[in-house]
Amino acid sequence: MGVGCLRILEIGTGCGNNLKYYPKNTRLIALEPNENMWKHFHNKLRQYPYIILENAITGSAEDMSIIDDNTIDVIVSTHVLCSVCDIKKCLKEIKRVLSPNGRFIYVEHVAYESGTLLYRFQSWIEYLWKLFNDDCRLTLQTSRLIRETNFTSINEQSVVVKDLFITLIRPHIFGIAYK
Ligand SMILES: C[S@@+](CC[C@H](N)C(=O)[O-])C[C@H]1O[C@@H](n2cnc3c(N)ncnc32)[C@H](O)[C@@H]1O
Repeated sequence: MGVGCLRILEIGTGCGNNLKYYPKNTRLIALEPNENMWKHFHNKLRQYPYIILENAITGSAEDMSIIDDNTIDVIVSTHVLCSVCDIKKCLKEIKRVLSPNGRFIYVEHVAYESGTLLYRFQSWIEYLWKLFNDDCRLTLQTSRLIRETNFTSINEQSVVVKDLFITLIRPHIFGIAYK
């Protein structure tokens, strides 16, 4: 890594909606399984000439063997863990590639509190929802799975985002997990 550079890995980059948040000293590794997204991503990236794209990897976050251990300063995931097939494997990979003191920053929609009517609603509809939304799951206990990954510390907030149109994906977690 160059002096003063921040090496950021974004998993599930999609069409690059998060590029606007990255600082000027960013060296970005973008990882995305859906090849169709790259055209949109590269178009958007042109608006941010100060971001150095170190690598654009077509692949899944469950297997990031192309990336060495302890080499990434920050990993970003927004609305991705819900679609990852093996979330435990993915979180293990995230922890492996993060450098000591590296941060995993995440924004994810999650399950309503279990036992509530809204949780039951999510469970009922989940099968259909997955079919039409790229295998996205509604009832994942993402927060618990992140805690079970043994990060050194986690700073997380749970928020029900009231102004989201779709009730099913209103419960969110926003967090930073430190390796
Ligand atoms: C809802 S989109 C979010 C895109 C972007 N992160 C954003 O916030 O705009 C979910 C993205 O996760 C990607 N994805 C699905 N499974 C994945 C996996 N196993 N590893 C990495 N990315 C994955 C999808 O291809 C898609 O681009």
